[in-house]
Amino acid sequence: MSTEPNIPVNRFFEGLMAPVMDERNDADLEVVGELPAGLQGMFTRNGPNPQFAPQGAYHPFDGDGMVHALYIGDGKARYRNRFIESAGLLAERKRGHACFGSVSEFRLPAEDVMAEAGMMKNNANTHFVRHAGKYLALMEAAPPTELSRELETIGEYNFAGALQGPMTAHPKVDPKTGEMLFFGYSPMPPYLRYHVADASGAIVHSVEIELPKPVMIHDFAITENYVVFFDAPGVFDVEAMMKGEPGVRWEPELGTRVGVLPRRGSNADIQWIEIDNCFPVHFWNAWDDGDKVEIYAPLFEKMPGGLQFDNPSQIEEPKPWHVSLDLKKGEAKAEQTDDRSGEFPRINDDRAGLRHRYQYNALARTWEFEFDFHGVVKYDIETGAAEEYIHGDHAVSGEHVFAADPDGKNEDDGWLLTLVTDQQTERSELSVLDARDVKGGPIARVRIPRRVPLGFHANWFPDA
Ligand SMILES: [Fe+2]
Repeated sequence: MSTEPNIPVNRFFEGLMAPVMDERNDADLEVVGELPAGLQGMFTRNGPNPQFAPQGAYHPFDGDGMVHALYIGDGKARYRNRFIESAGLLAERKRGHACFGSVSEFRLPAEDVMAEAGMMKNNANTHFVRHAGKYLALMEAAPPTELSRELETIGEYNFAGALQGPMTAHPKVDPKTGEMLFFGYSPMPPYLRYHVADASGAIVHSVEIELPKPVMIHDFAITENYVVFFDAPGVFDVEAMMKGEPGVRWEPELGTRVGVLPRRGSNADIQWIEIDNCFPVHFWNAWDDGDKVEIYAPLFEKMPGGLQFDNPSQIEEPKPWHVSLDLKKGEAKAEQTDDRSGEFPRINDDRAGLRHRYQYNALARTWEFEFDFHGVVKYDIETGAAEEYIHGDHAVSGEHVFAADPDGKNEDDGWLLTLVTDQQTERSELSVLDARDVKGGPIARVRIPRRVPLGFHANWFPDA
């Protein structure tokens, strides 16, 4: 085993990825253009922001979570950012140094640290969601972490003891019922659990799904009647992981299949349908129509190198695909729908599980670096039309989240929000595009008085 870090530390500690240490609360930010009157709520962006230098390998999945928020209303904006104060981070602060290994080079912490904070840090750095009035920061290897609306860490949240195991960073909220559907996967048995929380936030359905191998499942899709899982061969090797070696491998000979489970079903009810090997990281959406299930997702040909924790130079380019399942025949048909590679797929979340027409994707400048996004494309999947906007030669953008116009009638009545950072000035801003006219570019830009490090998922919580 090599003693060199698998991934050079500095790559994710330099430039626009460099962590920031201060926690700010800045009101009345400068706005270029005009914030729409209907845009009232809270924009968030979660991501890794390691407080302490790593003691060995570092992967962006390891960094302490930091949520950056913009509170928007009456044409004004306030910025606030806070560390997610996990038990692991508090243990490190007490000792003044990093105490945990990396997903790319696992190592148990010292016994006293493990007694305080467990064998790995629940950094909650991937996504930030709201359900039943609770704000939850999520990372897929651990339970949620509850924060306040002002981003104070309240602590780990396990649904009053009802949640067994970890929770995905990508739960789905049904726009009609208010239920939150989600899952948790694990390299240890049971490999997959599926849960439904009702609109009040109580877990009302929880089942184990059998998988032949422990595989990485970052996201899933829901329809009105089903949930959809991709069992793709990005396989965990726990023994290798415990030795500090790369713990996820792409094993194409195992094949890929799609599991369709009735929303209140159990393992015996799942129908598995084989498809050609592919690897989804995220989904736009899915819906069902009789015996058909239609799935829209950017798909990689195989697990991207950066997720295998050992080969960051092999990043594949994900392309938009439409996968159509025929439940009666047990067959899948898949077609690529565009040549533009992109990720961070989003829709108007009011269409989650229902037939959607518009889908948005972040466009990358290059795939040499996981975070080099610079634009957005809007697809009309009914007409096949697409329009895009590129933020600029030196701009690095992120996920574009859809914020619905409360006075809107159509699916694309709303705005796309993303953070944009200028590589030359290292200034960040919130860019607001009109989703009805994406190519028209930003209608408002909120200047943030600091650089926001590049990170993972954005979200939007409209005011009630
Ligand atoms: Fe994600």
